This record gives sequence, structure tokens and C-alpha cells, in this order.
Amino acid sequence: MSGLIKIKTAIFISGTGSNLKNLIKFSKIKKSPISVDLIISNTNKAKGLNFADQFKIKKKIFNFKNIKIEEKKILKFLKEKKIKFICLAGFMKILSKNFIKKFDGKIINIHPSLLPKYKGVNTHIRAINNKDKFAGCTVHYVTQKLDSGKIILQKKIKIATRDNPSSLAKKVLKQEHKLYPAAIMKIFN
Ligand code: GAR
Repeated sequence: MSGLIKIKTAIFISGTGSNLKNLIKFSKIKKSPISVDLIISNTNKAKGLNFADQFKIKKKIFNFKNIKIEEKKILKFLKEKKIKFICLAGFMKILSKNFIKKFDGKIINIHPSLLPKYKGVNTHIRAINNKDKFAGCTVHYVTQKLDSGKIILQKKIKIATRDNPSSLAKKVLKQEHKLYPAAIMKIFN
């Protein structure tokens, strides 16, 4: 990245927001190509929304009850705020084809599995039930097909015999916090 202007980015969340917090921290370092200017959630119950207050970042909740109407509102809002890039971070709603088209190649997601394995939810339970030796996380572009866009970076970790879905989730999350900033650096440098 040359110059000082960072790419205005929105982070979409639904839950705890540990990836959100990590990306906010990353965005503040000099070499980060992005600034986090907006946090969007589909629920006011998302714990991660607290980071908006903590870091004084604009937050907005869209309930997604009527996806067409809500997405129209979101698109308008993103335009107003001059958002050019979107990171999904534990966002559990599926964006429409129309929305994705409007931000073509500008939406990325972190997924807690070694894609293309285990698209969708309950990735850790499935990996353990299948007695997999490895798990991991993937940062990929968001396309119209769920969890199927081009992979930007992926990190593989070993599953220990004593691991359960929750211990595995913790291990993977730790790696996610390294992988997401690295993937953003890869895209913009
Ligand atoms: C993360 O493990 C992320 O990969 C996963 O939700 C968790 C959110 O944690 N995302 C998905 O499952 C998306 N389908 P966080 O709220 O602490 O960042």
C-alpha cells in the first residue's frame, strides 16, 4: 500500500466479535491497508457490538427479517459511509446474490474449516465426528455460492485426540486471528 489513505471497511458480525476486535486492532497499525469505519450486525444481542463503543466506531443493526428491504437499506448506508470493502466475521446470515454482485470481489469471509470441507455450520462437530486428523480456517472471497469463493489463505491445525468441539473451536479461533489480517495484507499488497 502506498500513501496513507486506508480502504474504508465495514465488518459484519452476529456474535462474540473476537475477529472483529482483532481486525480493529490490526486496522490501527500503520501498514494496515484497511480502516474499520462501520460495524453491522443482524442482531442487537451480538456481544461484539460492545467493541463499536469501545473503539468509537459507528454501528448499525439490520434485523434481516425481510432480506430484500434490509439489504437495500444496508447498501444505501454503505454508500453514504463510502465503504469500499466488507469483511464478514462470524456473520451468520446469507447475503443475497444481488448484494454480492453490488460488492463484487469486495467481500471476504473467514470460515472455521479447511474449505472446501465443511461448508455451512457446525464445522468442528463434523470434523471430530469424522475423526479428522486436521482442522483449520479459511479466508475466502464471498460469491453467490455459500463458502465456495476463491481461497485467499488457509491455516491447517492438528486435532488432538482429547479435543472436543469447544477446545477445537478455541484453537481454530486463535489461528483465525492471525489468518484474517494476513489475508487482508495479501489482497492489498
Ligand atoms: C469464527 O470461528 C468464525 O470463523 C465463524 O464464527 C466464529 C465467530 O467468532 N464463522 C462462521 O461460522 C461463518 N459461517 P467471533 O465472533 O469471535 O469472531
